[in-house]
Amino acid sequence: MKKTIISMLCLALCAALCLSGFAFAESATPTIDAIKAAGKIIMLTEAAFPPFEYLSDENEVVGVDVDIAAEIAKDLGVELEVVDMAFDGIILAVQSGKGDFGAAGMTVKPEREEMVNFSTKYVKSAQYIIVKADSDIKSAADLAGKTIGVQQGTTGDFYATDEVEGSNVMRFNDAITASLDLASGRLDAVITDELPAKSIVAANDQLALIEEPLTEEEYAICVAKEKTDLLEAINKTIERLIAEGKIEAYINAHMGLAAPEEAAE
Ligand code: ARG
Repeated sequence: MKKTIISMLCLALCAALCLSGFAFAESATPTIDAIKAAGKIIMLTEAAFPPFEYLSDENEVVGVDVDIAAEIAKDLGVELEVVDMAFDGIILAVQSGKGDFGAAGMTVKPEREEMVNFSTKYVKSAQYIIVKADSDIKSAADLAGKTIGVQQGTTGDFYATDEVEGSNVMRFNDAITASLDLASGRLDAVITDELPAKSIVAANDQLALIEEPLTEEEYAICVAKEKTDLLEAINKTIERLIAEGKIEAYINAHMGLAAPEEAAE
């Protein structure tokens, strides 16, 4: 009799453990659970891209994407950690879990969508040409055969490489560094995103912007394919910020702050 009771108790215990085990494995939000357990969420970016990400006087990464990420962290009730790295390494780092998401003024592209998932889009952008103020280059048609500086692995790089005939493309770690080479006469033009181009030109009167959008692009945050629960949470925050008009407010604030010293760094 005693034995039966003990074995029944054992059985009940096993069943309970099994059930709770299953319940744990089947959490609908495994990524968010892990982030909450860690108490922080990690954003990957490349921080020479004002107004979306740039270094403050205190050498901290700030900008529109950081403001958005701070809201994502707040909505999840965790701290935000920002990691500054090479732009063309962000997707791989997101895939391999070195961070929770990439927020880097990143353009949604079909090739990238094969590797990561993108959030709701939050900004429209385009590539623009920066030249020396006294340049003969007046439009995209004048770019053929020219030496063009770009940030490696960006849509500016793809445009200069694939769309400009006979271009000599020089790839830099960031577009600000490329613009310094443009100012000192080593390049004929730099191609980069609209607002970063405007920030760069505003910070250097040797440079001028050609008022001709070369592409149509939209930015989104990227997340590893399997982290669908995190993507959903990010979308919720972004959609709230869009509805509240916050993204525009962040852009205005940082376009004011980004000029001129920070943008020149
Ligand atoms: N929008 C461009 C792209 O996705 C450039 C982004 C560069 N971002 C940065 N944080 N440096 O390729």
